Amino acid sequence: MDVSNAPGTVTWAETRERPAVRLIDQTLLPGELVLKDCYVLEEVCEAIKSLRVRGAPAIGCSAALGVALAVYTSGADSTGELVSVVEEAAEQLAATRPTAVNLFWALERMRRVAQGSTDLPPEAFRHVLLEEAQEIVGDDLDHCRRIGEYGAELIPQGANILTHCNAGALATAGYGTALGVIRAAHQQGKDIHVWADETRPLLQGARLTAWELEQEGIACTIICDSVAASLMQAGKVDCVVVGADRIAANGDVANKIGTYAVAIAADRHDVPFYVAAPLSTLDLSLASGQEIPIEQRSPEEVCYLAGRVAAPICPEGADVYNPAFDVTPAELIAAIITEVGIARQPLAASLAGLSSGDSSTGSCSSS
Ligand code: MRU
Repeated sequence: MDVSNAPGTVTWAETRERPAVRLIDQTLLPGELVLKDCYVLEEVCEAIKSLRVRGAPAIGCSAALGVALAVYTSGADSTGELVSVVEEAAEQLAATRPTAVNLFWALERMRRVAQGSTDLPPEAFRHVLLEEAQEIVGDDLDHCRRIGEYGAELIPQGANILTHCNAGALATAGYGTALGVIRAAHQQGKDIHVWADETRPLLQGARLTAWELEQEGIACTIICDSVAASLMQAGKVDCVVVGADRIAANGDVANKIGTYAVAIAADRHDVPFYVAAPLSTLDLSLASGQEIPIEQRSPEEVCYLAGRVAAPICPEGADVYNPAFDVTPAELIAAIITEVGIARQPLAASLAGLSSGDSSTGSCSSS
């Protein structure tokens, strides 16, 4: 995806004089690049639940714009009523997906602005809420670029980099976290190659990561998830870079199911395992990854390949277990790359320092 010309993963649009949350429908990629306009809050909630829009930062951006949409589409003529609209919208959006903390972080920001704006007339209140949502989107793009700059220093010339799922422009407001690091390394002229785990069951790696990298001219080879360990054993992976859905205070990281297996294999073969994520993915209220809620998704995602095959690939009625995420313990992670610097071991202290603005506890060099 050429992020400079991209339509934008999720944006605010005024269409036919109706406001809308406009998003790339990722369920149709790579076959079709279709923009979906959500005119009511319920459509935004459906888009998040069904993964039309997905990836932790993009979910947060969508939720913020969803709250703005709710106040713009409400006929309420008092600010008091609009505050209730914000609260109800936040409640509906919070129920869409449980793991990515960016969703709750963005909703909290929107609620705080609403509560601090009760003295404004309704139109000004609507405007302030939209501005906040657009700031969340703009900041995310900026943070991804910074993550890319910091992370690129960890990528050697000529590296073979393995990534899991899609932590790219599609998973954020643009540019990406893990793919932001890869993009920045590529833009610095490092001759890199990416191993993209296909990422069963929904194939975010094969469908989305490979598509984004192809648009950018970055060499990429798709592998079945089960291939990663043998590639590391053969010395063909120089580092792993993945995104995150939630990072606990001790540095444990929830990310797409299968990430933990990649981290174990990387540890076994002395391959550095890096996580790239904005501070909005950090949840310091949780002591460890054990407390992170893991989303369970429908059996159909496992029984039908990417939802595109009429016939199931398993016996009808087969028992299925389909967790969407797993937790990689902090001890398996060499570094967490954020927009304010790189957190290194011990991650708990380093993350606490970076999030409180103390860069001496993390590496802040970007060259
Ligand atoms: O279920 P998904 O596709 O929303 O899962 C996405 C991931 O696990 C990503 O790796 C994570 O959200 C980081 S995106 C920058």
